[in-house]
Formats: sequence, structure tokens, C-alpha cells
Amino acid sequence: MNVIEAKGLRFKYRRSQKYALGGIDLKVKKGEFLGIVGPSGSGKSTLCLTFNGIIPHSIKGEFEGEVVVTDPTTEEKYSTRETPVPKLSTIVGLVLQNPESQIFNMTVEEEVAFALENLGLPREEILRRIEWALRIAGLEDKREEFPPSLSGGEQQRLAIAAILAMKPQVLVLDEPTTQLDPAGRKSVLEMISKLNADEGITVIMVDHNTSFLFRRADRIVAIHEGKIVMEGTPRKLVSRAEELKEIGVKIPAGIELYNELSRANPETQVLTLDEILYE
Ligand SMILES: Nc1ncnc2c1ncn2[C@@H]1O[C@H](COP(=O)(O)OP(=O)(O)OP(=O)(O)O)[C@@H](O)[C@H]1O
Ligand SMILES: [Mg+2]
Repeated sequence: MNVIEAKGLRFKYRRSQKYALGGIDLKVKKGEFLGIVGPSGSGKSTLCLTFNGIIPHSIKGEFEGEVVVTDPTTEEKYSTRETPVPKLSTIVGLVLQNPESQIFNMTVEEEVAFALENLGLPREEILRRIEWALRIAGLEDKREEFPPSLSGGEQQRLAIAAILAMKPQVLVLDEPTTQLDPAGRKSVLEMISKLNADEGITVIMVDHNTSFLFRRADRIVAIHEGKIVMEGTPRKLVSRAEELKEIGVKIPAGIELYNELSRANPETQVLTLDEILYE
């Protein structure tokens, strides 16, 4: 089942001359881990904003083609053009780059409860969801803390937990670790991996630092000037690393070495991709 399907998707921001998205066709399967890579300004964030309807509802412009979201529990289909963002957000959760901009409550627990209270859920269900989201985020012991006092990694995990509490089937993460130190990044990446592997949540993730996506994604699409220019398994994209570099995608240092070694010694694999991409 496809949870998200974009067909002939084009988008031009108001007062902009060119299309930020120039004809995207993309299907995302339930349970899949999809990576999105591409140089700065290629349209990655714009594409993410179309998945829960922020484009075209809150950010307006010329929107052509369509994005269809399917609720995997009911199999009901929603065209984002006709469905309001709050409805789409219960299926597709969007996590933005900057955690501070998404956190505004006095305690960790209140932050997770905040969005839930507007859903009109029974108290028991709210409490269950808070426990679940805090556990996955590894923040059970920090529930009374003031969010700005948390580390960067904890704040981003809290931002993800708050969205997770809405029980979206799909989580879209737009560069969720760019502002974090290595330890913070690692903790957030582990959380994202767990959500996909253990909770069955479909993950769509944009990352400039591509090593995690090359190691962990089921499939990667590369975007350049608003179009998908390459698509396939990480292994397939690794074999086309040179072309990716040419369009400005950052390639993990070990990959070139890996490709050289594989070319020189097609018979004997000296290093595995997992070893190269470890972080
Ligand atoms: N609010 C906006 N108004 C007008 N043009 C915009 C707006 N936001 C983005 N753009 C333009 O749309 C194009 C795609 O931008 P987008 O932010 O989607 O790229 P990106 O791949 O996410 O880049 P980055 O890697 O730097 O985050 C760029 O040309 C950008 O300048
Ligand atoms: Mg972006």
C-alpha cells in the first residue's frame, strides 16, 4: 500500500519566477524508510511541506498535480488539496529542522500532552500516549523538566515525541539533526531507526549528511532543481556516487574508497558498506 503518492506535482512559491518542484512522481510504501537527498535549494523542504498539506493550504502558490495520502488503518484516501492540515497531520507528522521553534510548554510532559488535548481524546488515552512517546524518546525521567534546559538532542527527541503522540503513520523529518552535536545526532538517529523498525512507522527523512541514509534507508531519491534525478536502493546510489557528487550531494568519505576498492577487486569485498558508513 502506498501511504503517499505524488503525481505530476509542481509548485511555484508566490512571487517566485521558477518552480521549486518541477514535476514530481513519487510513491511511498507503508513501512518504508525513504531518504531524500539533494543539494541546497533543490526542493527537499518544499516537497516535505506538500506531504501534510502545509503546501498548498498555509503556504500558497501555484500548485499543480496532486498528493494523495492514504490512511493505512482505514485505507481511506485524502487528496491534500481538499483535506485540511489538521486532518492530514493525524496521518502524516512533520518534524522541522529547528527543535526550539517547535517547543513552547513549561515541562516535557506538557509539551507532549499539548497537541493531544486538542484532539478531544479520553484522559486515559492521552496518558497512554504520553507514556509511549516519552519512552520511545528516552525522556521518561525528564518529564518535569523545563524543555529549554534539555540538551539539543533531547529537545529534538521531545519535538519528535510531541508529534509522535498524535500517532501519525508517517513521520516526515526535514534535516532533524543539523543543529546537533554528534552525541545528540546519534541519539536522534537511534530514535528514528527504532520508530521505523519496531513501531512500523513509515519514515521519510531529508539529511545533508548522507551516511545514515545510505546505511539505514530502504530507498533513496535524489532531487535536483525540483525534479527526481535518481532513485533506488542505497547500494544502487552508492554505485552512482560520482553523479550524485556532481549535482552537489555530499557523499560520505568512505564511499569513494569503497567504490575504488570494489572496482579494483570485484571478487573480494575488502570492506562492507556497513563498515564504511558506520557513525
Ligand atoms: N518561502 C519561499 N518563497 C519563495 N521561494 C522559496 C521559499 N522557500 C523556498 N524557496 C525556493 O524554492 C527552492 C527550493 O527550496 P527548498 O527550501 O525546498 O530547498 P531545499 O532542498 O530544502 O534546500 P536546503 O538543503 O538548503 O534546505 C529554492 O530555489 C528556494 O529559494
Ligand atoms: Mg531544506
